[in-house]
Amino acid sequence: MKRNRILRSNPCIRSLVRETKLSADDFIAPLFIVEGENIKEEISSLPDYYRMSLDVAVKHTEHLYRLGIKSVLLFIKCKDELKDNAGTEALNADGLMQRSIRTIKSAVPNMYVMTDVALDPFSIYGHDGIVEGETIVNDVTINVLAKMAVSHAQAGADCIAPSDMMDGRIGAIRASLEQNDFDKTSIMSYSAKYASCFYGPFRDALDSAPGFGDKKTYQMDYHNRIEAMREVMADVEEGADIVMVKPAIHYLDIIREVKNAVNVPVSAYHVSGEYSMIKAAAQRGWVNEQAAFLEAITSIKRAGADIIATYYAEDILKVI
Ligand code: PBG
Repeated sequence: MKRNRILRSNPCIRSLVRETKLSADDFIAPLFIVEGENIKEEISSLPDYYRMSLDVAVKHTEHLYRLGIKSVLLFIKCKDELKDNAGTEALNADGLMQRSIRTIKSAVPNMYVMTDVALDPFSIYGHDGIVEGETIVNDVTINVLAKMAVSHAQAGADCIAPSDMMDGRIGAIRASLEQNDFDKTSIMSYSAKYASCFYGPFRDALDSAPGFGDKKTYQMDYHNRIEAMREVMADVEEGADIVMVKPAIHYLDIIREVKNAVNVPVSAYHVSGEYSMIKAAAQRGWVNEQAAFLEAITSIKRAGADIIATYYAEDILKVI
């Protein structure tokens, strides 16, 4: 008989043979930044997570850094009157995103600042690109995204994270970073980003839900696996430093497959709906919250993610 239980007999031996361990180095903490001062408002569909004005976000970033978090991923909520169909505000050197990057980098210089690059928060249509008729036009959009990336780099961003799923944007962004002498700015591409219902709470947070249609003409069809490999391979070829799979929990098979296929770091985004489902069940007493998020996030790492973006980053750091 093979006595597999021997290595499970007590906590000491279990921790000695443990294959996957979470560490402070694994995490990216998303931040939602709004205009104003002294604002910290809970996002109703993302319990215990907040939109913060920049002054509060800076304090929070300092707190996260002291806890051991190495990276934040910035999202901003654009005022309605600044939205258009051209990404104008996305390119504003004094826009909320650019000010946030500068302020957070100068307050916590060692925090690795990643920035969301996509047009949806700035779009009157809530789409990730420029809209013509009912079409999200690819090539016009990637020109804007490339300028947006440079604008973030100029503000001091360490990493550009394009979440838009237009074709060719990684190559365009890399080229424009190079042309502007940003040869130290990294690109974390949302490579295999699926059209998912689990983004709902995030869209509430930024008031960025699509005004017409859905995102299925650019985000991936969740029935597909091989297509994810085409996306990831193209992004690596175009110059992505890190590739991402998103969402995470419902896409663990994709994370593993990507991890086995590429020689760049793989990240995964445990998205808003995946977080809120644990929260909701925990609030009803149906699951133990801490046990649930540790199991969920560990499964993402076990699947092959080197880096995990999660709304639970702070809670995890407090536990491990
Ligand atoms: C938009 C963007 C989304 C998320 C990150 N960037 C939503 C979307 O594509 O509609 C989702 C993150 C989450 O749900 O936590 N470019």
